[in-house]
Amino acid sequence: MKIRVLGSAAGGGFPQWNCNCHNCQRIRNNTMNGRTRTQSSIAVSTDNFNWLLFNTSPDIRAQLEAFPAIQPKNGIRDTGIKAILLMDSQIDHTTGLLMLREGKPLEVYCTEMVKQDLSTGFPTFKMLADYCTINHHSIPHDGSSFEIPGINDLRLYTQALKSKAPPYSPHRHDPHDGDNIGVIIEQISTGKKVFYSPGLGEIEPHVLHALQTVDCLLVDGTFWTEDEMVTQGISQKRAREIGHLPQSGAGGMIEVLNGVSQARKILIHINNTNPILDEDSNERKQLDAAGIEVAYDGLEIDL
Ligand code: MLT
Ligand code: MN
Ligand code: ZN
Repeated sequence: MKIRVLGSAAGGGFPQWNCNCHNCQRIRNNTMNGRTRTQSSIAVSTDNFNWLLFNTSPDIRAQLEAFPAIQPKNGIRDTGIKAILLMDSQIDHTTGLLMLREGKPLEVYCTEMVKQDLSTGFPTFKMLADYCTINHHSIPHDGSSFEIPGINDLRLYTQALKSKAPPYSPHRHDPHDGDNIGVIIEQISTGKKVFYSPGLGEIEPHVLHALQTVDCLLVDGTFWTEDEMVTQGISQKRAREIGHLPQSGAGGMIEVLNGVSQARKILIHINNTNPILDEDSNERKQLDAAGIEVAYDGLEIDL
């Protein structure tokens, strides 16, 4: 299978429009060794023609323009996007649905919880009823598997994770299984598997099991430290409080991934405040030493 990283940043992207933090300021001024990034999403295909999109970023238009394999091929209106799977209902993962309004009905796979959010707090499903319409397909959050018509040779396993529903969700402070999920994507014919979880707040046993059994993992790379936004004077929000396990420190993502040996390890959904965006930083060197990669827009993984 081929995995295309369409976008690798957390909400806001990098640089963020109104941000003058150490990273955003330097990337704008061209004084940092790093790359700009759009908000996170991946596309997966086994035939390089029919694509399953994971999340729809507000930046989707530019992401599709940068990726010829998914662009129109036949007829006056066309797309390589055959279906969309949503990991949660966050703005950075769902706003792109509105940018796909000109097309045929969208085949959207998400949990009942995400469907609820997208019909109430952020009613994109309702709004799109007067444009392309949404065909919603409910997906499990107990780790059981399913396949998607039109996406050949792929099996998906979706399971609830501890992260956070968005601020507009009826369950922001009343978590439900299925507010956020992780997915194992398996190519049936080869048995190769990738685990994708851009929002991951806690390593529950089933998450650890997934990390230890897949060939490649693309996991939450939002923050380096728990209080990164607080110390930079940006916000009072702490990493775990908004559903993201930081990389450094005891019980952090690096320590977790040090216990994983069989998989290619890649961080995705990087916040603009994270020092790992600076490729010359000490933090980035620590990742290099641990064999952990940082996703960038346009990265392609062949499994
Ligand atoms: C998050 O995952 O916490 C988001 O990136 C927040 C947002 O989209 O504003
Ligand atoms: Mn996000
Ligand atoms: Zn910034």
